[in-house]
Amino acid sequence: MNILITGATGFIASHTIVELHKAGHNIIGIDNLSNSSEEIIDKIAMITGEKIEFHKVDICDCQTLKTILSGKQIDCCMHFAGLKAVGESVAKPIEYYDNNIGGTITLLKVLKEIDCKNIIFSSSATVYGTPEFIPITEDCPKGICTNPYGWTKSMIEQILFDLQHADNSWNIVVLRYFNPIGAHPSGIIGENPNGIPNNLMPYITQVAFGKREKLFVYGNDYDTHDGTGVRDYIHVVDLAKGHVKALKALEDNCGLDIFNLGTGHGYSVLEVVKTFEKVNGVKIPYEIVARRPGDIAICYASSDKASKKLGWQAELSLEDMCRDSWNFQKRG
Ligand code: NAD
Ligand code: UFG
Repeated sequence: MNILITGATGFIASHTIVELHKAGHNIIGIDNLSNSSEEIIDKIAMITGEKIEFHKVDICDCQTLKTILSGKQIDCCMHFAGLKAVGESVAKPIEYYDNNIGGTITLLKVLKEIDCKNIIFSSSATVYGTPEFIPITEDCPKGICTNPYGWTKSMIEQILFDLQHADNSWNIVVLRYFNPIGAHPSGIIGENPNGIPNNLMPYITQVAFGKREKLFVYGNDYDTHDGTGVRDYIHVVDLAKGHVKALKALEDNCGLDIFNLGTGHGYSVLEVVKTFEKVNGVKIPYEIVARRPGDIAICYASSDKASKKLGWQAELSLEDMCRDSWNFQKRG
């Protein structure tokens, strides 16, 4: 297939491009480089042996998108582009709604014009809010999001449902990611956040590297086995493979379908720290501090639906995630 990838130089898309290339697909990547750099295209080529077609363009820029895409046969768009920093979204809601929702609407208009009505969208477990039950299945009702970033995901899902309802020639797959961590085993690509990391694993790797003094563990008084928050961490390579499998749903004319992409296992913050220390032989000093506003106690997926309908399940362990995250950090 000819696949358009938005947000192509980002963390999850770059790993997905590697897997799509392996599966024989042809890629056109676009990104405005607001949270990544063009050198990722060369790094992907170091892994795959082939340089993809890439354009620096903003998905909000309708004219340039049309110029780049018109006349091209695009079979599917995987839409990763978006701003994703939870805290920043609280401070800059307009920028987040404009970029994530405005950008998606512009993209959808252009896709319709070039007659590409197959889309796979990067959504998030955040749309479940405080989940009504655990493990979270796709039937779990959507909830109240605690920040504008989460609402952009929830609202974009609604826009996609409405679009598919109005015109059933669209096939739309919504993938709700749980907590992607890890890196390509080569250590060539991985997650490289700007500034102080918000998320657990990049913070841990920076502590291990000596860039930060210690990890702050946000609360040990949750109703979990050791009191720290529990999440469903998924290796980014497993997540990337989930996208390749999701193409099957499009080929089967799914209409609109939703899949959780998680492992089905929850690990606490302290379990992640201990596993990282054991696998990599490094010490992670930490301090327990107050809970982070907006955090929930436990969040993990049921991935049965993806297993049954797409033939996908995560294969890599928390040990693999810790090893590959550290391997990437050490190279950088
Ligand atoms: P990332 O920031 O590494 O990648 C996103 C890419 O989109 C970046 O390269 C950025 O430059 C680009 N981008 C942003 N706005 C753009 C615009 N207007 N036009 C063109 N490009 C634009 O993030 P990621 O972790 O790879 O996430 C990919 C997608 O998955 C995002 O939509 C994110 O919200 C979603 N997601 C991520 C997580 C996670 O924990 N990483 C969890 C759930 C969902
Ligand atoms: N945590 C710490 N210290 C840190 C960072 C995190 O103790 O420095 C804890 C958190 O309190 C939480 C766990 O580690 O218990 C995981 O936190 P992350 O920030 O890594 O991940 P979240 O589950 O909060 O959120 C992530 C993404 C969201 C996405 C959500 C669900 O950041 O964008 O997963 O997919 F919506």
